[in-house]
Amino acid sequence: MDCYRLSLRGEVPLHGETYVSGGKNTSLAVIPAVLLSDEPCTIENLPDIEDVHVLYRILLRIGAKVDYTPEEKKMVIDPRTVHTTVVPFAFSQQMRASYYMMGALFGRYGEAEVGYPGGCDIGSRPIDQHIKGFSLLGGEITDENGMIKVKGSLFGTVVNFDMITVGGTINVMLAASRAQGNTILMNAAKEPHVVDVANLLNSMGASIRGAGTDTIRIRGASHLHGTTYTVIPDQIETGTLMIAAAATRGDVLIRGCIPTHMEALTAKLLEMGVFVNNQDDMIRVRINKGHRAIKLSTQEYPGFPTDLQQPMSAMLTRAGGHSEVIENIFDSRFKHLDEMRRMGAKVTISGKTAYIEGVPELRGAPVTATDLRGGAALVIAGLMAKGITEVYSPEFIDRGYEHLERKLAALGADMRREKVE
Ligand code: EPZ
Repeated sequence: MDCYRLSLRGEVPLHGETYVSGGKNTSLAVIPAVLLSDEPCTIENLPDIEDVHVLYRILLRIGAKVDYTPEEKKMVIDPRTVHTTVVPFAFSQQMRASYYMMGALFGRYGEAEVGYPGGCDIGSRPIDQHIKGFSLLGGEITDENGMIKVKGSLFGTVVNFDMITVGGTINVMLAASRAQGNTILMNAAKEPHVVDVANLLNSMGASIRGAGTDTIRIRGASHLHGTTYTVIPDQIETGTLMIAAAATRGDVLIRGCIPTHMEALTAKLLEMGVFVNNQDDMIRVRINKGHRAIKLSTQEYPGFPTDLQQPMSAMLTRAGGHSEVIENIFDSRFKHLDEMRRMGAKVTISGKTAYIEGVPELRGAPVTATDLRGGAALVIAGLMAKGITEVYSPEFIDRGYEHLERKLAALGADMRREKVE
C-alpha cells in the first residue's frame, strides 16, 4: 500500500468560509441502527470517511443490499436480505465502533457474533457496560476466540450504567428498541449523537423518550418501518475547524454546524481571548493576536469533549502562559504532545494532566500521527509552526475527517498530500 504524508508550511492565518460534514460518530451508530428496520432506509449527509466505508463493507458482508454513493453522501440500505448475524473478525477489527453491529443484530434477530473491538492508542476501551445491558435485556453472552456472541429473547429492563458511556448508551438503546416491553437507561450519555440515533429510531416508528438527558425510556417495538434520515453535522469536526482558525490567528466562518453543540469549546476559546460569534447554523471564529493560557478538564457532554482535547492542547503549546489539560475520559490521550516536543513545545505529563508552558514559536518538523484526533492536533501544530511540518500516517486522520486538507487549503493553508518514496 502506498504511503503518504501531509506536508504543510505554517504561520499562514486561515481566512474565508468552510462547511461541516455529517457526523462521524453519529453515522457509525445510525448505519447499523438501520438493520433494526423491516424495510429499506435512506441515510443522508454521511461523511465520506474511511470508517463509513468500513461499515459499508460490513453491511455487504452480512448480506444487506446497499446502494452507497460517497460523493452524494447517501446510503440506501435494505436489511431484508441479511443472511447472517456474524461479523467476521477481519471486518470488525478494522473499526472499534463495529460494536454497534452487536446491538443492532441482537435487537433485530435475537443473536449477534462480533469480533471483540480492539483498544487503540488512546487507552484501554472495554465494553463491559455494553455487555451488562445486553445481559439485562435477556442476552446470554459467550466470549471465545476473540469473538463476542450474544443470544436470547429480549425483554424490557432497567440498565443503570456504572459510568457514563456513549457507546454503551447507544448500543443498549439499539437492542432495547426491539425488545418486548419497556426499558429504562439510567446514567445515560447525553452527547448530540445519542439524540441523533434516538431521533432516527423514532423516525422508524420506535418510541424513545429522554435522549439527551441521563434517563432514556424505550418502548420496545415488534416492527420498525423504513425512513429517510439526515445525520447531524459533526460536532468534533466543527470544533477542530474552530481551533484551527483560532490557532492560526485567522478569521473563518464555519457553515452548516450546530452552535449549541459547541458551547463548552466556545466558552474556552472566549476565555483565551478568541472572538466567537454564533449565527443560526454558522459560527465565526477570529483573533489577530496571541491567545491566553487556560485550565481545561475533559468531561462527558455537555462538558469539554475529550475528542477536542488533543486539537486544543496543540493550540495551547503557543499560548501566553502555563496551561493545564486534564484528560478524565481516556487513560492515555497525550501521545501527540510527545511528537510536539520535537516542534519546540514545552510539555510535562503527570498522570492524567498535561502541563503546557506556552512558547512564542513552534518549529516545523516531521511528526507521526498515532490516532485520529492526535493526527488533527499535529496538523494544527503544523499550521502554527514556522517552516515545514510533515505529518506521517495521515490515514488516521482520513478515518474521521472528510477531506481535511482540502478544507484547510481552501482557507489558505499551504498544505498538500504527498506520496512518500
Ligand atoms: C465514543 O467512544 C466516541 N467514538 C469517541 O470518539 C469519544 O471519545 C467517546 O465516545 C467519548 O465521547 C464513537 O462514537 C465511535 P465511551 P466510546 O464508551 O463509545 C470507558 C473519536 O475520536 N468504558 O463513552 O468508546 C471507556 O474506556 C472517538 O471520534 C468502560 O469502561 O466511549 C472510556 O474510558 C475516540 N466500559 C470511557 O468509559 C464500557 O463498557 C468513555 O467511553 C464503555 C466505556
